[in-house]
Amino acid sequence: MSTLSSAPITLAIPKGRLQEKITRLLNQQGIRIDLEDRKLTALDAEEKLKIILVKNSDLPTYVNFGIAGLGICGDDVIYESAYPFYRLHTFSFGGTRMCLAGKKNTSPESDTRHMTIATKYPRFATQYYHSLGISVRIIKLGGSVELAPVLGLAPFIVDLVETGETLRANNLEIIEILEKIDVHLIANPAYYKLHYERINAIVDLLKRG
Ligand code: PRP
Repeated sequence: MSTLSSAPITLAIPKGRLQEKITRLLNQQGIRIDLEDRKLTALDAEEKLKIILVKNSDLPTYVNFGIAGLGICGDDVIYESAYPFYRLHTFSFGGTRMCLAGKKNTSPESDTRHMTIATKYPRFATQYYHSLGISVRIIKLGGSVELAPVLGLAPFIVDLVETGETLRANNLEIIEILEKIDVHLIANPAYYKLHYERINAIVDLLKRG
């Protein structure tokens, strides 16, 4: 067996709310991952899979450059990256919604000729509204986007809503649901072509979860 074919398959997983669900699913399928405190890489017990723990928004970059051959992330970061990945599997967990939100009783009609939107997703927001013929001014933020309407940076945000708790806690509401967001196993296309047999075996395992 060549060194290349025996090297572990590399899988990037995002820190945060998906991390625990993914490691639990892998464990259930016999892939035991022990990510010790603060460690950012780990091999499974059989040394067939190497896990790389990355910031969610950076995950497509690691997969695109082949540092990780596979990754698990949502349509939101996949779309924002604009990289051409294969989607090998859609998970039953982690589904959420990309929404337009604002202060209660804010109507988008009041600003339709030039909506100002704060978001972590400038590509999505721009293309979504341009496709409707609506001009948008985008203010790019890196997190805690809900602050923007509260503090007057922008009347609207385009952001993920999962439980809706963050909106409620800040007296904001969904104005419109724009897109359903799912979580996928993605692959770097060249990496998939090189290792498709071992990758397909992993996909089969994950499908059982
Ligand atoms: C995401 C999203 C919302 C929040 C929605 O942020 O951007 O802020 O979760 O979740 P909820 O509907 O369950 O309240 P995340 O927690 O990833 O952190 P961030 O604000 O730093 O981007």
